[in-house]
Amino acid sequence: MEIPAISHSVKRSLEICERARQLIPGITQLLSRRPTRAALGVSPIYAARAKGCKIWDVDGNEYVDWMSGVGPIILGYADEVVDEAVREQISRGSISTLVSEASVELAEELVRLIPSAEMVRYAKGGGEACAVAVRIARGVTGRDKVLFCGYHGWHDWYLAANLGGERLDDHLLPGIEPIGVPRCLEGTALPFKYGDLNLLEDLLKKHEGQVACIIMEPMRSEEPPPGFLEGVRQLATHHGVVLIFDEVSSGFRIALGGVQEYTGVVPDLSVFAKAISNGYPMAAVVGRREFMEPASRMFISSAYWDDNIGIAAALATLRELERRQAPAYFEQLGADFKERIARAAQAAGLDAGCAGVAAHPGIRFGGLDPQTLRKVHTLFIQENARRGVILPPGFFFNCAHDQEALDHTEAAVRESFALIKEGLERDNLDQLLECPPQEDLFRRMVR
Ligand SMILES: Cc1ncc(COP(=O)(O)O)c(C=O)c1O
Repeated sequence: MEIPAISHSVKRSLEICERARQLIPGITQLLSRRPTRAALGVSPIYAARAKGCKIWDVDGNEYVDWMSGVGPIILGYADEVVDEAVREQISRGSISTLVSEASVELAEELVRLIPSAEMVRYAKGGGEACAVAVRIARGVTGRDKVLFCGYHGWHDWYLAANLGGERLDDHLLPGIEPIGVPRCLEGTALPFKYGDLNLLEDLLKKHEGQVACIIMEPMRSEEPPPGFLEGVRQLATHHGVVLIFDEVSSGFRIALGGVQEYTGVVPDLSVFAKAISNGYPMAAVVGRREFMEPASRMFISSAYWDDNIGIAAALATLRELERRQAPAYFEQLGADFKERIARAAQAAGLDAGCAGVAAHPGIRFGGLDPQTLRKVHTLFIQENARRGVILPPGFFFNCAHDQEALDHTEAAVRESFALIKEGLERDNLDQLLECPPQEDLFRRMVR
């Protein structure tokens, strides 16, 4: 496939970014959307519109986007079916004094699809829903401590892990200061290493009778080590601790019922958000009746959690995911994607490829020290952006990714890989980079 001549400018994006710098601390609301986390000066920052698997930026550039809004988009941008359901709901009012029957219908759908779901509560964001789940677990057990693995949002209960030690370094980002988190929470959130059952058991024994829950990302791209999730389940049951799966990023992608359906390991509570509603704010905490029912006596309440737009979007999204057999589509798309990346790497003679399950793989570059790897990642993002592709090493499929998107992306990646190979061989990555290396990305304890 021919890639159009590269006459790529993001001038207007950069101008808007300067205005934002004066007004919005951190420039964007989500860390992963910060311009310093891509190829600053080359990557687009501001979008004019998005449709299907494409984004048009404010400078008029068109991109095939593999980030899918950093996870929430699963059917495709501005999906006709979901948007029609939303428009129809808007015409009847987004929220009112009363609740809607659709809120019960959505609960029924979630209970049907998700193995751990017997009762359901709603929220709007993933981190917020994790905070609800932890509150429920603490309320049910009457205990304070939380053992966690992975990323779970921005709330005090989680960032408390860094009071008295940088325990989030491997789960989130290195060097996060828990500024503004009450010091009295020190020692209430303790991490464990993915795959390390012995460490988890030691923690449970050491804090016997004090642990409310284990909250973890059950998997992202890569299969859990054999027996690991089963072992976590057994330990939680044995120690009388609530097991929470955070499926904010994994949910609906590998299986409609999440990783718990895929692996057959059923937690007590689970958290879903992001892809649940194809881009409209919505989240759900679901779980077994004995753990969820007590929530009716806890103060967990917010006006917008009954908003009907998110509910309408989620109902339409779940039905469409099922109708379009999304996980099977991702499996097939991912197999093709992996093969193309492998071919591009081979053509360039580069040690690179896809790792993880086909439905949700990631791109890995082999044999590089951390500093070089960061430069290579930035160069990869930069060169893809210049060729009309938004593709960092970690990404999310959506149902609108098609053959044309794959063809364009393969052609772009072939050229990006060739340039990276040249940069590595000639040791001139710095000259090839038109921007500073991207700032530290989220570290993933759960790959
Ligand atoms: C596993 C997991 N939990 C929680 C969150 C936080 O979700 P949100 O950004 O919607 O608050 C994320 C977001 O990336 C996530 O991946």
